[in-house]
Amino acid sequence: MRRLDQLLANLGYCSRREAREWIKAGRVTVRGAVADDFGAKVDPADVRMDGEPPDHPAGLLLLLHKPVGLVCSHDEREGPNVYSLLPPRWRARNPPVTSIGRLDKETSGLLLLTDQSELVHRLTSPKHKVPKVYRATVSADLAPALVPLFAGGTLLLKDEPAPCAPAELKIITPRTAELTLTEGRYHQVRRMFASQGAEVLTLHRTRFGHLELGDLAAGQWRELPLSEFSTAG
Ligand code: URA
Repeated sequence: MRRLDQLLANLGYCSRREAREWIKAGRVTVRGAVADDFGAKVDPADVRMDGEPPDHPAGLLLLLHKPVGLVCSHDEREGPNVYSLLPPRWRARNPPVTSIGRLDKETSGLLLLTDQSELVHRLTSPKHKVPKVYRATVSADLAPALVPLFAGGTLLLKDEPAPCAPAELKIITPRTAELTLTEGRYHQVRRMFASQGAEVLTLHRTRFGHLELGDLAAGQWRELPLSEFSTAG
């Protein structure tokens, strides 16, 4: 059960003050009756705003094809962000819709967005070892010896106390590779290749856990059920 004015505000419809105006104006019903108590505790399933049921009251989980050029930070000073691709009401939700881990501004590909903080913590925790697959093009030919090196779990990156967890490298052409990581350190793919003298020129994430981008175009997203990463069963 949630407080009526808070429900409207948290789902991004309006501020809490405006929610009270909406209620006074008779735009909100609870179980078919016009609501008059903005502090009433309600089941979102019973509420209608202008006759419409509430927008995703249980939460949002989205799979986005992040284009190059957008950041995952909410801080406007860091430049245009991925949230600008979402409908305004979703951008106004509280708790806010945020990315599950981050991709660099110059990286494209599969990015999950959610307002479920528990899911963010679970899927970004190195403990859970969620595999993420990246496709990179690089500035120098990749030696086959990189495959056992990255798989070995001994590669130390500059200023990091612990070596990278074992990572699977597939060399596709001398300057194109697919790398599967189960952790998500800052600029990890770029730094792993840079440590071996290869600059990453393009980077694209194709998979996150069991999810793939499929034919989703850059800048497009699709909804996933909140149960997608359910631990039950
Ligand atoms: N590794 C990187 O270097 N950049 C990303 O965006 C993701 C992984």
